[in-house]
Amino acid sequence: MNPFKKFNLWFNLAKKKYPYDHTAFALGTSDRNNQPHVRMVLLKLILEDGFVFFTNLNSQKGKHFNLNNNLSMCFYWETLNKQIRITGKGSIIDEKISDKYFSSRPRGSQIGAWVSKQSSEIPSKSFLKQKEAQLKKKFDGFSVPRPSYWCGIKIMPKEFEFWQQGDYRLHDREVYKLKKNNWTRKLLSP
Ligand SMILES: Cc1cc2nc3c(=O)[nH]c(=O)nc-3n(C[C@H](O)[C@H](O)[C@H](O)COP(=O)(O)O)c2cc1C
Repeated sequence: MNPFKKFNLWFNLAKKKYPYDHTAFALGTSDRNNQPHVRMVLLKLILEDGFVFFTNLNSQKGKHFNLNNNLSMCFYWETLNKQIRITGKGSIIDEKISDKYFSSRPRGSQIGAWVSKQSSEIPSKSFLKQKEAQLKKKFDGFSVPRPSYWCGIKIMPKEFEFWQQGDYRLHDREVYKLKKNNWTRKLLSP
């Protein structure tokens, strides 16, 4: 089976169990010292050739991505006993797609994207609240434009691993690797 098909199959099962948070995944990046970092983000678009999340390019993860676009993703849906790991290369998506998604967000979140210099140090929470109030005033009566630093990153997989819990540690691990435009499949010992 094509791993994208299998991904969609599992993702739709997860959606039934977790209508709101099935899209959450752990995103792995590396810094300039090859130190891995991981944090949760949300999968917002599934394209034919990749998976898109949205973020601030000036954030820690955005800076890592600029240095090294090898990224990893990991989904875990507890009640399904399923995990999916994906590695691949990230690229910035077409601006028009980011504009469209940004304009679909609640106004408060759009303003929030301007308020937060994601991952930079702030003196206090009230600093953010003040900034939010200023920006609310500034954009009053206008639609909020997408900040150029806020955009979608598409991860194009080169490897998928589907993990399904089995009895007595005998889990299933199915790995797909992209080789010369074809997906190869193998099983791994748990
Ligand atoms: C469930 C969940 C979903 C999140 N989704 C996103 C997201 O889609 N984009 C994003 O930039 N941060 C998201 N965050 C916040 C990130 O985990 C992280 O705190 C933030 O992006 C800063 O990370 P960085 O300093 O490594 O760049 C989410 C956090 C949680 C707990």
